[in-house]
Amino acid sequence: MLLKLEEARQRRIPTWAFPVLVALPFWAILYIGAFGTHKHVEAETPQQVGSRVFSSNCATCHGAAGQGGAGPKLAGGEAAITFPDEAAHIDWVKTGSQTKPKGTRYGDPARPGGQHVVNSGGMPAFAGKLSDAEIAAVVAYERESL
Ligand code: HEC
Repeated sequence: MLLKLEEARQRRIPTWAFPVLVALPFWAILYIGAFGTHKHVEAETPQQVGSRVFSSNCATCHGAAGQGGAGPKLAGGEAAITFPDEAAHIDWVKTGSQTKPKGTRYGDPARPGGQHVVNSGGMPAFAGKLSDAEIAAVVAYERESL
């Protein structure tokens, strides 16, 4: 009788529980790790798309900050002064200047400093190279953020 009681007291924790208790911390580490290492991937804002598209497609000629280079300065809202109409700005980026004869006037005829003219014909057309959404984003970036 006494032996049986002793045995029962010792067996209060069932044998199967031991491997579970041993495995628990490892499981906990894996569980936390599974969430901890996941990067919180957020969709790019249109502004971030515009900035990325500008850096990789326009900055070589217009400067990293739009300060100008082989292409005219775009910083300080210059592009929006040339193209008060955003649709005309979008159209310009789609067609570029390579297809236009030198001397072709473009943009606002009443632009302060005079209407702009194709000088080098060096800007490629971006229709087909960039999606409409990317072109809209880079145009918005040039107008609002440069
Ligand atoms: C290979 C050089 C080159 C690249 C790349 C380039 N441009 Fe141009 N861009 C030019 C040149 C040169 C002009 C001026 C027209 C001319 O003389 O042919 C111009 C003119 C412009 C203008 C008119 C600015 C004004 O006030 O007259 C805008 C806007 C413009 N580019 C936007 C862009 C955008 C947006 C991109 C990228 C998606 C881009 N360009 C990529 C060379 C380039």
